[in-house]
Amino acid sequence: VLRLLSHMGMSKEQMMEIRKQNCMTMKITYYKKPVFIHQGYMQWLWDVDGKRYLDLFAGVATVSVGHCHPKVTAATQRQLKKLWHTTNIYIHPELHEYCDKLASYLPDPLKVIYLTNSGSEANELAMLMARLHTGNFDIITFRGSYHGGSQQTMGLTAKSSCKFPIATSSGCIHTMCPDVFRGPWGGSYCRDSPVQTIRECSCAQGVCIANKHYIEQLEETFATSAPSQIAAFFGEPIQGMGGAVQYPKNYLKEAYKLVRQTGGICIADEVQTGFGRTGSHFWGFQGHDVIPDMVTMAKGIGNGFPVGAVVTTPEIAVSFVKASHFNTFGGNPLACAVASSVLDTIREDSTQQNSLHVGTYLMTQMAKLRDKYEVIGDVRGKGLQIGMEMVKDKGSREPLPPEAMSEILEDVKDTGVLIGKGGVHGQTFRIQPPMCITREDVDFFLAVFNKAISGYTDRK
Ligand SMILES: Cc1ncc(COP(=O)(O)O)c(C=O)c1O
Repeated sequence: VLRLLSHMGMSKEQMMEIRKQNCMTMKITYYKKPVFIHQGYMQWLWDVDGKRYLDLFAGVATVSVGHCHPKVTAATQRQLKKLWHTTNIYIHPELHEYCDKLASYLPDPLKVIYLTNSGSEANELAMLMARLHTGNFDIITFRGSYHGGSQQTMGLTAKSSCKFPIATSSGCIHTMCPDVFRGPWGGSYCRDSPVQTIRECSCAQGVCIANKHYIEQLEETFATSAPSQIAAFFGEPIQGMGGAVQYPKNYLKEAYKLVRQTGGICIADEVQTGFGRTGSHFWGFQGHDVIPDMVTMAKGIGNGFPVGAVVTTPEIAVSFVKASHFNTFGGNPLACAVASSVLDTIREDSTQQNSLHVGTYLMTQMAKLRDKYEVIGDVRGKGLQIGMEMVKDKGSREPLPPEAMSEILEDVKDTGVLIGKGGVHGQTFRIQPPMCITREDVDFFLAVFNKAISGYTDRK
């Protein structure tokens, strides 16, 4: 039985003042009237006044099995009483038990694991390993992608609002994102989703013209912007921060082939799509029928506890012994105990299956709202990795302006639901909830979203 704890701490005014004066964290908050979160349980959050929210954003796609999930909390408490920290200069069972368990979720030859504390750190390590292994330097990512905020990974990231005006990693090349809704090409059968775009095409069964054109763009990048040999290609199976952007079904398969021809390795950033979120598979790359040479993970791996990982092949791992790589916290006993319990919980709670069923239900119902309202341009995703792209009108597909997006986001929050925002122009609402949400939660959200959009449309 959940006991709600009343907030006895600082006032909201004090917190805002401290945020202004002493907190070097992100200064902006998502909302005009910020949310002051105090407690969480599974898919629910409570603010300092005791108001309850349905959390459909999970602390940015991170709380995978549920806030304060009882099984994970119990495992954490057991470990807290036993051993918090030791480093990898010693051998401790939690690390080895966890690596063995995580490796069992990955196909051959992805069996060698490095644990980190965040997604940025994992991607930074992946860049280093790719360069060491191949002896090449250049790395290709998609425009609109986010792969981290460290100096190196900021080079991979291709979203202007996340880039500071400094020298980031050189050798990062950004190619066109094969976005079948917003991009120049797209049609009615391109993507692996229960909902297709509103764009029409005349492709015959088994042929995708959009895919052909996007692959030509990648070839153009190889011909113009990259040296003849590259180190790696980084891609999310579904672009998260970009707004759950999906590529044509065969794109990654063909792109991987081209990358390998240039000596590069293929890296799947599964920071958002891993751990069952896409529903049909445990890993997003499996939905594309590819096997990467390296996979990076974070967020959902620890249900909110700071953990990240790089998984690669024994062959690539060999190159990493050229110097000693030390990481104080990566793979510490507490992190491993949490992450291990998250894996067990995903299996015991059928989290991946829930993601598939509830996510498919959400998208198919949401597609009805897309058909009803001119401003909902696209509904897409897989499992509980979902985007709703907002437009001025369906004809132009021009992005809904930021003020309108904020107005709707605020309204949805005031009615008790937290959702996210993404996209190059901030034009896409994101739904990436704890994967324990139910159909009843979806029905509640649909009613809230319908009301917010109809309110916005009436006011306009
Ligand atoms: C796809 C992807 N990769 C990497 C990162 C970086 O992870 P972290 O914030 O843990 O450093 C993020 C964070 O949002 C992400 O979405």
